[in-house]
Amino acid sequence: MRISKRLEAVASFVSNNEVVLDVGTDHGLLMIYLIKNKIIERGYASDLREGPLKSAQQNVELFGLNNKIQLLLSDGLNKMSDDVTTIIIAGMGGELISKILSNDLDKIKDKTLILQPNTQVPNLREFIMNNNLKIIDEEIIFEDGHYYEIMKVVKGQEKLSKEEIYFGPILLKKKSEIFIQKYESEYKKYINILTKLDDKHDTRKKKIIKHIKMIEVFL
Ligand SMILES: C[S@@+](CC[C@H](N)C(=O)[O-])C[C@H]1O[C@@H](n2cnc3c(N)ncnc32)[C@H](O)[C@@H]1O
Repeated sequence: MRISKRLEAVASFVSNNEVVLDVGTDHGLLMIYLIKNKIIERGYASDLREGPLKSAQQNVELFGLNNKIQLLLSDGLNKMSDDVTTIIIAGMGGELISKILSNDLDKIKDKTLILQPNTQVPNLREFIMNNNLKIIDEEIIFEDGHYYEIMKVVKGQEKLSKEEIYFGPILLKKKSEIFIQKYESEYKKYINILTKLDDKHDTRKKKIIKHIKMIEVFL
């Protein structure tokens, strides 16, 4: 079976034989992929809404995996059972991911988290740092005109610098081609915006200059 490059990258962060809960599963394809590719044996797929969960159910049935994937209609980690070892939250905004985690901080202490925020990535890193969690791996990929960051997080303490919060502590060390591409293109975009802004947009200008200065140090 084929899944998006983004979800494939998320799947590559899952260790063998973990019991996975995929929060906000939508179509359920990530869980199906993990089992079909023998990365894990079983797990849970949850969604807040009935529509997406129904589509997950149809796909799970199509692949004959009813006995391996338990579907849950659930908000965040509400119905998570104790046997879960890895929680995946992918394809949502960073703020929503932080909110889901902050609602159940006591439940995630001994779990591995695999997070793929679509937006507000630095805010999520800041949340991680401020809640006794630590990023132990990160990847960045490019698909259909978007850059996506994926991170593996466990319990732990780490003080991140403002650059590490902005770029990602491990992405900054790896400095992959895609990573450099992302910030080269953001740099160009910000310079372009700056040339078009007049003095009326002083606050916006200051914000953009801050971004430019941050990126300049690392390019
Ligand atoms: C954009 S889809 C992402 C689907 C999939 N995880 C992926 O990465 O392709 C987001 C899904 O999260 C679900 N969702 C949003 N808030 C949620 C919450 N608090 N708890 C569980 N699911 C949630 C939505 O219903 C939707 O199906």
